[in-house]
Amino acid sequence: KDGVDTDDTANGIRVFDPAFLNTAAISSKITFIDGDKGFLMHRGYPIEQLAEKSDFLETAYLLIYGELPSKSQSEIWKFEVMHHTEIADDLAKVIGSMRYGLPPPPVPSAYDSHPMSVFISAFAAMGAFAPEANPALQGRNLYIQDKAIMNKNIIRIIGKSATVAAASMRVRMNRPFIAPRSDMSFAENMLYMMDATSDAENYKPDPRLAEALETLFILHADHEMNCSTATMTHVGSSLVDPYSAVAAAAAALYGPLHGGANEAVIRMIERIGTVDKVPAFLSAVKAKKELLFGFGHRVYRNTDPRSKIIRQVAETVFAACGHEPLIEVATALKDAALADPWFVEKKLYPNVDYWSGLIYRSLGFPLDFFPVLFAVPRVAGWLAHWKQAIEAPNPKIWRPRQIYVGEKVRDYVPVEERE
Ligand code: ACO
Repeated sequence: KDGVDTDDTANGIRVFDPAFLNTAAISSKITFIDGDKGFLMHRGYPIEQLAEKSDFLETAYLLIYGELPSKSQSEIWKFEVMHHTEIADDLAKVIGSMRYGLPPPPVPSAYDSHPMSVFISAFAAMGAFAPEANPALQGRNLYIQDKAIMNKNIIRIIGKSATVAAASMRVRMNRPFIAPRSDMSFAENMLYMMDATSDAENYKPDPRLAEALETLFILHADHEMNCSTATMTHVGSSLVDPYSAVAAAAAALYGPLHGGANEAVIRMIERIGTVDKVPAFLSAVKAKKELLFGFGHRVYRNTDPRSKIIRQVAETVFAACGHEPLIEVATALKDAALADPWFVEKKLYPNVDYWSGLIYRSLGFPLDFFPVLFAVPRVAGWLAHWKQAIEAPNPKIWRPRQIYVGEKVRDYVPVEERE
């Protein structure tokens, strides 16, 4: 009717690929995954080597700039990031105001605001404090013409991510924020900001735990076009400032099918409770009444190489922090699923989140803080992809098409005439 063609494919063949199962939206030099072999590498370096030999900030540099830094580049990079960890007083006030729940005595979990909501909001608010980072105000080619401003904002975002994360935990504990320390490593400083008590000056995080967190950060730093990185790239393609794009990516990560799975795994294991309840739970999964959180992956159809490394980190942390009581149920659940043809046929294996939650629990982090521990290192991957997309020749705004299956054109009916 009226020449409107709801099946329009004027720009050529339209590929219908719900949930992007088979669609590549970019070409990338950052990360490669072989899902069948269970292989992951960043810029050509296998994840096993990076986890063993690198540290988080060096891996972040590699992801963002394409090469491992030279000794002097590494020193300058780490100095710069660790000297851009402070947050503005006004931002601290915004974070400090995000309290939900009754204010009981100042004990852990005094407030209920989910730390991921605080983290997301803090990055959105940071955009308001950084007009110089906004191409809408500074011009379309801001980041092409001015590499110094691009690098400055990359450094700021990585540096402040740990501080915002620590503040998101302190606010829910109703405790004052602790200023960052530039003389510590990235993970050490984060532990310090979250943990330090009245004797902050002399507080030194346990080096075994700082090293374990550093390794976890390397493992979480990037994973090509996952849901949150795709969000960062999609939102960034509109040329919004990178703080707003990070807020959007963090929101995508928050969901329990993505970065929120580490929290969901523990809630699931706690709900199962004892080893004898494992078979009933797996039956509920097979009947599609439950999800086995921490299992399955869009790309890995064999093993997730990160989960192997994480299992070793778990041993170190359990040795330092004491026996983790949920480990029996977690192990029984994993073993039963891996021996069950239903899961084998569907190629469902433990992913990175299956063990990371147990480690974070053992380290004493509150359950709802776990996704934040995923978000902080993933900021590096988001920025690497954002930079790559901004610098690509002829970048375009992301705008998928759809297959319209709604009504054909029809005439408006006044309300009195409707049945
Ligand atoms: N528990 C139960 N069934 C599952 C699970 C699971 N964890 N994962 C997949 N399946 C089933 C699906 O129901 C589907 O069954 P069907 O063939 O009968 O329809 C089949 O396996 C294929 O799975 P899909 O959902 O099509 O796989 P997809 O690639 O879309 O989803 C995802 C991947 C979201 C990770 C999924 O495996 C899942 O929900 N896992 C649990 C949540 C989780 O651990 N997320 C973390 C992922 S890793 C990360 O983000 C760091």
